[in-house]
Amino acid sequence: MVHNKKILIGVAWPYANGYQHLGHLAGAYLPPDIFARYHRLVGNDVLMVSGSDAHGTPITVRADQEGISPRELFERYHRTFLETYQQIGLTFDLFTHTDTENHHRVSQDFFLHILKNGYLYKEVQRQLYSPKEGRFLPDRYVEGTCPHCGFPDARGDQCDNCGKLLEPTELIRPRSKASGDTALEVRDTEHYFLDLAKLSDQLEAYLSHGKDHWRPNVLNFARNYVQSGLRGRPITRDIDWGIPLPLPGYEGKCLYVWFEAVIGYFSASIEWAANRGTPDAWKAWWYDPEALTYYFIGKDNIPFHTVIWPAELLAVGRIYHDDEKAQLNLPYDVPANEYLNFKGGKFSKSRGAAVDVPYFLSRYDPDPLRYYLTATAPETRDTEFSWEDFVERNNNELVATWGNLANRMLSFAYRQFEGRVPEPGDLDESDRALLDKIEAGFQTVGELYNACKFRAALGEAMALAREANVYLDRKAPWFQIKEDRQAAATTVYVILRAVDNLKTLLAPVLPHTAQKLHGYLGYEGRLFGTQQVEEYREKTRSHLALTYDHSGAVGTWAPSQLQPGQALREPSPLFKKLDERVIQEEYARLEG
Ligand code: MF3
Ligand code: ZN
Repeated sequence: MVHNKKILIGVAWPYANGYQHLGHLAGAYLPPDIFARYHRLVGNDVLMVSGSDAHGTPITVRADQEGISPRELFERYHRTFLETYQQIGLTFDLFTHTDTENHHRVSQDFFLHILKNGYLYKEVQRQLYSPKEGRFLPDRYVEGTCPHCGFPDARGDQCDNCGKLLEPTELIRPRSKASGDTALEVRDTEHYFLDLAKLSDQLEAYLSHGKDHWRPNVLNFARNYVQSGLRGRPITRDIDWGIPLPLPGYEGKCLYVWFEAVIGYFSASIEWAANRGTPDAWKAWWYDPEALTYYFIGKDNIPFHTVIWPAELLAVGRIYHDDEKAQLNLPYDVPANEYLNFKGGKFSKSRGAAVDVPYFLSRYDPDPLRYYLTATAPETRDTEFSWEDFVERNNNELVATWGNLANRMLSFAYRQFEGRVPEPGDLDESDRALLDKIEAGFQTVGELYNACKFRAALGEAMALAREANVYLDRKAPWFQIKEDRQAAATTVYVILRAVDNLKTLLAPVLPHTAQKLHGYLGYEGRLFGTQQVEEYREKTRSHLALTYDHSGAVGTWAPSQLQPGQALREPSPLFKKLDERVIQEEYARLEG
């Protein structure tokens, strides 16, 4: 019997405080979907979860600016995430949010378990306080100069320049983000701290074994962080928007957003299992030591996923499980990406360099975007988006190399061979050579997907498409058909099989057009499952979530078995060539 692997895919929980831009998609959201779809085709049991990060100062600061409540703000953007992800085809088994009753309860239970296990301690902390505003200024309520790298606009929780985690009191010349107040006081306030020092040896052991497959920058960052000497970190805050401490006497304090948001991976798995009526199903991904757990994030999230989240998992050890030997799985891989930039820096409205995903999808199709973001993926270094490059890659790679190949041969077969896959004669050496080469892609391209090298996987698949073009130009069935109909039939048969194989090799990146092609080739059924926005009711609340149902999906990671005689469906082009004028239009719009 084939043993399906359990693959848990955690995707960074986006702060629901604005539209997502192309940098978000490239950095953290598209790669896990490619990975998930590959494993779904292989037949592994994928569980991909995430949700909107509803809490923390990124939400409250923004809500204050807009003069609305944090809940209103996060619900608005949560909705846009659901729509956007459905449109671009991110197959989350569950995309929920952190303000569900379920997530509150699970996070509070995590806190209590860690407390019981002796990895939390109370300490009076010195925090910045603005007398003018009459409140503490945690995390992003303060900005100032980074003590590590001198970056002048470091935030109170983390420096965007060097990535180091910070405490507001460490900032040089701190100022209030909301009021600009620089006359800040330091006041005492009592908080719970996660005892990272006590977990240090376990973390070091975790990071020193079986990590050869990790990206070097991720592993180095994590090891340096642990080796530089871990100190306890406060995991509660003086803030009223968030998850209350599950203890009496702590009114006005909530769990720190980073402490609870990472627990979302776990709580969302539980929510997913409960929603489908199999409340224990999540355990296979969290407690079976054979299950592999992956976390897809941008580089600013590295410390939280390689050190803090493993620390929380080690500190909890076992929860909602009776077997005393059971232990929660630690991250198997954290393939963090660098940034996709625009106009020489991060995507940003204030710099006039914003390309929001909802806007993009209102003008262009999802697969060209997925193609572009994969072909230029910031896997090992920052990369740069430009409209020139998008149009150029769409026209000269996606359309010229892949779209035209499929479209030309499908139309040719449809017109010349009565709308059926032609009956080939004997395949000669060059016919076989092409098919062998492309079929070998199931091994080579598959290994690259599995290793989270999506850019290389796409490159390899496209190289195979170019081989098919070379073959086609050499055989020229449009000439063959005038002299030797059987020879043309053989060529067309071989090419259609090659196209069928390439369809599968490219499907994780280009799922929408792969599905169309699947239909044109005369097949029935869906390669992947279906997505849906659903409403879930809890005792006091109800919430919207994006879900995925894999049942009935027919796609498999296996070479084409295309049968001669199979009836084709009338094809139309998979991709559109873009007019160069688009480039000027888009830049003009940014200025306007
Ligand atoms: N909300 C955070 C961000 O956008 C990411 C949180 S990942 C999580 O950077 F796992 F902590 F939720
Ligand atoms: Zn810094």
